[in-house]
Amino acid sequence: MLILGLESSCDETAAALVTGDRRVLAHRLAGQEAAHAPYGGVVPEIAARAHVEALEPLIAAALDDAGVSLNQVDAIAATAGPGLIGGVMVGLVTGKALAHATGKPLVAVNHLEGHALSPRLSDPDLAFPYLLLLVSGGHCQLLLVAGVGRYTRLATTIDDAAGEAFDKTAKLLKLGFPGGPAVERAARLGNPKAVPLPRPLKGAAEPHFSFAGLKSAVARAVGQYPAEDLAASFQAAVVDCLVDRTTRALHAAPEAKTLVVAGGVAANGAVRGALEALATAHGRRFVAPPLWLCTDNAAMIAWAGAERFAAGLTDPLDLPARPRWPLDPAAEAVRGAGVKA
Ligand code: KG4
Ligand code: ZN
Repeated sequence: MLILGLESSCDETAAALVTGDRRVLAHRLAGQEAAHAPYGGVVPEIAARAHVEALEPLIAAALDDAGVSLNQVDAIAATAGPGLIGGVMVGLVTGKALAHATGKPLVAVNHLEGHALSPRLSDPDLAFPYLLLLVSGGHCQLLLVAGVGRYTRLATTIDDAAGEAFDKTAKLLKLGFPGGPAVERAARLGNPKAVPLPRPLKGAAEPHFSFAGLKSAVARAVGQYPAEDLAASFQAAVVDCLVDRTTRALHAAPEAKTLVVAGGVAANGAVRGALEALATAHGRRFVAPPLWLCTDNAAMIAWAGAERFAAGLTDPLDLPARPRWPLDPAAEAVRGAGVKA
């Protein structure tokens, strides 16, 4: 089985070819960092236009890398949401056009499911169910993953996502964009105990995350401490919060024998290290995808497409793009939900 995957939901344009037996034949990526850097964040309209320009040549390059033609592909998987709608539409419409032209089936992939299943691409032994900490720029959730399309959300953020907090901290500290890797680099040079920062919802009875208060505390401390100490103290606070909330979820989900972390923030060494220690302390196996598979890419979309296609799941060509698309639609809204745009 050979799947072409397309990703365009945020600021990475990507195309990949992945087989049903976990071989990544090609994965191409075009970042837009330079285009968004002057604004310190992703500008949706700029992103959408950049996806239009980048996607077609990337697909051609990926097919070339893999040495296959479009006719050898079994299905076309494209991110159909959630994300910046203009960008999502670029990838989804391209996927539909290719599916229509070749007569191959379309598999619409939830970007979050791409992250959620990506550890199964890198680790053939990762079996369901597992406890997943999904930490990215737009999301911070704990999910019990029971199978393809079977997600129970145990916790989510009531305000900012963890990656968003990294990006805002980088902006406050003038460390550049994208923020996560910049904060991690600065943190290596700083003292994580130098700045007293809050750990929102640590120890709380409710299962959720909160990072807005931490971000505000960083904003108040800017100028009073060296940027490296602030970065290190901020990162330590995030790690503490993630570990505390994940510990609670491990107790709530004894059936999950493996703790898995995915999403852009999973590329952070301190986060990975702390979660690995946590898993070990709780007698669970720990799985984290390689760094390139943590941040947005199309191999994870192709793989989620492969898992869905193998399960007989394909989609009609009139399927709409979805700016919002929860993995667990039955999960209750949390306090704070809907407050932000
Ligand atoms: O999964 P992703 O590539 O895109 C979304 O779907 O959001 O995640 C991007 C997020 C950004 O907020 C970025 O700052 C963060 O992941 N990130 C990191 C690191 N690398 C990326 N955060 C902390 N440390 C890193 N090394
Ligand atoms: Zn993502």
